[in-house]
Amino acid sequence: MATLNKIAIYPGSFDPLTNGHIDIIERALDIFDQVIIAVLHNPSKKALFTMDERVQMIKQSFNGQSSILVDSFGGLLVDYAKMKNAVAIIRGMRALSDFESEFQMALMNRKLNKEVQSVFLMTGFRWIFTSSSIIKEAAQFGGDISDMVPETVKLKLMEKFPNLKE
Ligand code: PNS
Repeated sequence: MATLNKIAIYPGSFDPLTNGHIDIIERALDIFDQVIIAVLHNPSKKALFTMDERVQMIKQSFNGQSSILVDSFGGLLVDYAKMKNAVAIIRGMRALSDFESEFQMALMNRKLNKEVQSVFLMTGFRWIFTSSSIIKEAAQFGGDISDMVPETVKLKLMEKFPNLKE
């Protein structure tokens, strides 16, 4: 009997990867055989880290774990998901404030391709208040973000923000 490989895409800007993202990826791996972390290439959105830096930081954080692939994509997410034979798109939910935009995005994705399901996973309680943006803001002014990001991301943030100390 052929083994069915259930693939899910976890898309995002990942500018940069946070422990909140890692929490969602670990939860997704309880459900799916393989998770593709797909970094959006969006030239119109100004990012702190280059695409290459973002992909490298994610790869280093997962250390070649075989059930995790790291990739980048441009264009429509549902087209990318179809190309990768993915059955689901994973999104993390923190608070109610995430709901409206996520709901809108999921319905648009369903309209564009009804075969790809959106799956929402609740983030661990300790990451409810974190996001890449708020972590960057704190880091910029020397705030201690060391327990909110993987070590490799912390080191890259220290390179960008000299205020940020070990
Ligand atoms: O980490 P983010 O910035 O919240 O991720 C947003 C992302 C990448 C999931 C979203 O912008 C996206 O899917 N962009 C691809 C373009 C697309 O498919 N748009 C139509 C559906 S809303």
